[in-house]
Amino acid sequence: MQDFKMQLTQEQQDILDGKQGEVMAKVMKTLVMFGEIFGAKRLIKVTHDQGHLVTSFGIGLLKPLYRTMDELIGAGIKTKGKFTVDPRPIDYENVKCNILEKLVFSKFMYSEQASYEEQMRKVGLRDADSFSCTCYLPEVGNVPKKGDILSWAESSAVVFANSVLGARCNRNSGMLDLFGSIVGYVPDFGLVTDEGRKATWKVYVKTTKKPEAQILGSAIGMKVMEDVPYVYGLDKFIGNELNDETVAYLKDFGAATASNGAVGLYHIDKLTPEAVEQGESLIVDGAKEYVIDDAELERVYKSYPVMWKDKEAEPKLCFVGCPHLTYKQLKNWTDAIADGLQKAGRKKVKVRTVLCASPGVVKKFEKTPDYEKLVKTGAKLTSICPLMYTNNPLTKSKAIATNSNKLRTYSVARYYKDADLLSVITGKEGN
Ligand code: F3S
Repeated sequence: MQDFKMQLTQEQQDILDGKQGEVMAKVMKTLVMFGEIFGAKRLIKVTHDQGHLVTSFGIGLLKPLYRTMDELIGAGIKTKGKFTVDPRPIDYENVKCNILEKLVFSKFMYSEQASYEEQMRKVGLRDADSFSCTCYLPEVGNVPKKGDILSWAESSAVVFANSVLGARCNRNSGMLDLFGSIVGYVPDFGLVTDEGRKATWKVYVKTTKKPEAQILGSAIGMKVMEDVPYVYGLDKFIGNELNDETVAYLKDFGAATASNGAVGLYHIDKLTPEAVEQGESLIVDGAKEYVIDDAELERVYKSYPVMWKDKEAEPKLCFVGCPHLTYKQLKNWTDAIADGLQKAGRKKVKVRTVLCASPGVVKKFEKTPDYEKLVKTGAKLTSICPLMYTNNPLTKSKAIATNSNKLRTYSVARYYKDADLLSVITGKEGN
């Protein structure tokens, strides 16, 4: 038997020793080994038992994952609570694909989608509407409380839960999110500890107007990488109340910090819960400093490479909603597109446009008159992950436009500021 340095409770040791079966022992061993790599001295209880899995796509190559799922199912193992999962990769009805693309997606790339979803159902997937990276929004309903310990991995959800909700979660990888949700424990290190939540950077926002959330997040992410920033000066633009608007802003800001860097937690002075409660005592002595003014934001924006084959091409497809849009964002984009089209004297969007939101937000939106308004513009609404659509050999050659810095980072999509993207969609300059 392998010796571990970690102090385990009797219950944890029993699981490790195989008293709940060989498969559970393997699950526990993986978590213990992972924790030891990061110097964790113990495992702590997951207090929010609804997990969230990052791996939502049935890519043929992930054979070890499917084998592990089969082992879990064979041993009758399920997660403690039900879990949600990242968005699906395919929605042929709303994100049209040609015959060749369909062939590549269904037969090669996501050939295991149906069987993997069946495996997830057997292990504890909540329901068919659980596919979204914004699991923490009320319409999806996987909402941890302040201080809750989580076993999640999706980077945009982890940074939101840590920063905006004050929950505690490390940036885990796929499988570890599932294993923590099965045994109900996670290793005690990093962002689940008080010490790990201290800020090592002071960031001063000194712009003359409200910064684009996705560019500000990108600038901070690229500067601080995996460190924790404490951000001053943003409250001046977005206020000091967590409401629909600030939540949407911080969602997009956080996703950019997490994808352009590796931020798992940020504090916004006078706004996010720990900053409100503990203020500057959250900042370590000797913290580094970063000042962001208009010129710095513009420098960061200009640094994004255009990866299209033909850099001067007209966009052929626009994706809005990575991470998935909140209900309010979806309504705002609908109004802005309809308004922009009217000003441009057009009836339909100029460029094929897809808005992405969780199934819960989409269902709520479909019941309102705004849904008809959106349909009339010709824009489509889906709950897929645009990255999974974009990231394949065929779509790689397409001139895809987006206002998501995460999508820009991981695909060849080109980043546009919100107003510029709206101009692309409606054909109206200077909306
Ligand atoms: Fe969500 Fe996919 Fe973007 S998981 S954050 S929509 S890359």
